[in-house]
Amino acid sequence: MLGIETSCDETAAAVVARDSAGRGRILSSIVRSQWDSHRPFGGVVPEIAARAHAECLDELIRDAMAEAGIGFERIDAVSAAAGPGLIGGLIVGVVTAKTIALVRGIPLVAVNHLEAHALTVGLTDGLDPPYLLLLVSGGHTQLLLVHGVDHYTRLGTTIDDALGEAFDKTAKLLGLPQPGGPSVEKAAKQGDASRFVMPRPMLGREEAHFSFAGLKTAVRQRALQHAPLSDNDVNDLCAGFEAAVLASVADRCGRAFDLAAEMLGEPVADFVVAGGVAANQALRQTLRDLAESRGSRFHVPPVELCGDNAAMIAWAGAERLARGLASPLDAKVHPRWPLDATAPRAIGAGVKA
Ligand code: KG4
Ligand code: ZN
Repeated sequence: MLGIETSCDETAAAVVARDSAGRGRILSSIVRSQWDSHRPFGGVVPEIAARAHAECLDELIRDAMAEAGIGFERIDAVSAAAGPGLIGGLIVGVVTAKTIALVRGIPLVAVNHLEAHALTVGLTDGLDPPYLLLLVSGGHTQLLLVHGVDHYTRLGTTIDDALGEAFDKTAKLLGLPQPGGPSVEKAAKQGDASRFVMPRPMLGREEAHFSFAGLKTAVRQRALQHAPLSDNDVNDLCAGFEAAVLASVADRCGRAFDLAAEMLGEPVADFVVAGGVAANQALRQTLRDLAESRGSRFHVPPVELCGDNAAMIAWAGAERLARGLASPLDAKVHPRWPLDATAPRAIGAGVKA
């Protein structure tokens, strides 16, 4: 399976093999970040992103094929992320995939980017559903019960900012480089989390929802009180922010363990974290501890497969194709594409979900 990812600010192409037993193997995976183009603007500029995808995608596909050491005659199908994401980039990836499918006479699979993050542990750990999933990226923060391919129950979501977005905004207001997650994590490691104690959003709430907008504001207020900020101040603010995030996320995941167990009729056996923010070492440790305290196995993809990549798109495409879920050549892109379309809207101040 050739996979293509162009939903946000990374252009990626990969080739993944799936054997008859349903086990996957990455033959090649190439990711090109666009951050150098977006950095002067302090965030992702959709038009720049779409143009950058269009400029380098063919080259990346050629490189992924070369690294896999195979020709197009060995490609059985092609998948592309068709949403959610920025519409210009999605169109570039999906039109490219359609063209390859048409020219080669092979199936097309339009993949939901969130499903690709959700199924990555099937590729890396051979883990089969059901499992409880925390999906944390730049645009999404959700707790999902993964029943199987194409079958998800949303247990919780953010009522305002996504977790990755909160890291990025915190970095921006403290003058740290984008993408903010890695910068804040690095600064937090050198800081003292007890100096600025931030509010722990949503602690103890009945529903397994998240909120990070207030926390971001708390960081801003503390930063203004202590301006001008020394490097030490910035480190301590990042450490305080991260400690509050971890406490809130652990509490919300604990609630999801209970909701999932009720739904499954038995305790959660496997707990997974995926998406770009899952690269955060402190988050991984906190969630590993939580899983252990719940008697559950913990799974997280290797760091290079937490952020956006095309191996996860190819794998999700292969999983769908194996179940007869190929897409027609007139498949549409979906800038908004929830995994659980039946989930009620979350109620809150700045609701985006
Ligand atoms: O999944 P992803 O690569 O793209 C989306 O689908 O959004 O996630 C990107 C997000 C960004 O907000 C980035 O700052 C965050 O993941 N991130 C991190 C870390 N590495 C990336 N957040 C916290 N700690 C990290 N080490
Ligand atoms: Zn992503």
